[in-house]
Amino acid sequence: MNKKELRKQLLAERQQLTREQRAPWDAAIFKRLSEMEEVQQASTIMLYLDFRGEVESEEMIRYGLAAGKRVCAPVTFKEERRMVPVLISSLDQLREGAYGIREPLHLPEREVRVEEIDLVVLPGVGFDRQGGRLGYGGGYYDRFLPKLRSDARKIAVAYELQVVAEVPMEEHDTPLDALVTEAGVWRRT
Ligand SMILES: Nc1ncnc2c1ncn2[C@@H]1O[C@H](COP(=O)(O)OP(=O)(O)OP(=O)(O)O)[C@@H](O)[C@H]1O
Ligand SMILES: [Mg+2]
Repeated sequence: MNKKELRKQLLAERQQLTREQRAPWDAAIFKRLSEMEEVQQASTIMLYLDFRGEVESEEMIRYGLAAGKRVCAPVTFKEERRMVPVLISSLDQLREGAYGIREPLHLPEREVRVEEIDLVVLPGVGFDRQGGRLGYGGGYYDRFLPKLRSDARKIAVAYELQVVAEVPMEEHDTPLDALVTEAGVWRRT
């Protein structure tokens, strides 16, 4: 299946999930993620603000802030197809940005330099257990990830039903280091 077909199928499946089904999975994913050594040791973490039924991220953001980490999230510039990481200090200070995704206020002094990021937790549409990731097709993470420090970790979170045997990967796709689902943690070996 090509990326477009796979995206459509996986989004349709995720759409079927009810709040009741997702809530315990969100909790399990958060617990696994927060127990990972690379998460505990990271000082500056880039998280995301969930939309369209992605794994809920608010608990992760609260955890990061409570643990004294610098937490940032993407501010999206549609024209340039670019994401800029901006510090979050509270879940109350978000606005609706491009694509209807919540984002922090883009104050220049709150921008985080990409080299400062130790860990990125990223959502997506589909994943495999070889580090493959499929997003919404905008190439936003594809443009962003190569700018990270080479030792910065890239960890995806997803529901098990988003995991397939193999996601088609192209030259511009950056492989992930780990994938956390409600069922367990996969790590690149
Ligand atoms: N570094 C790049 N520079 C320019 N275009 C890019 C770059 N990386 C990816 N693209 C373009 O972005 C488009 C979307 O790529 P792809 O289908 O892999 O998206 P995706 O991984 O689903 O999206 P996202 O990264 O937003 O999650 C492709 O047409 C690709 O050519
Ligand atoms: Mg891609």
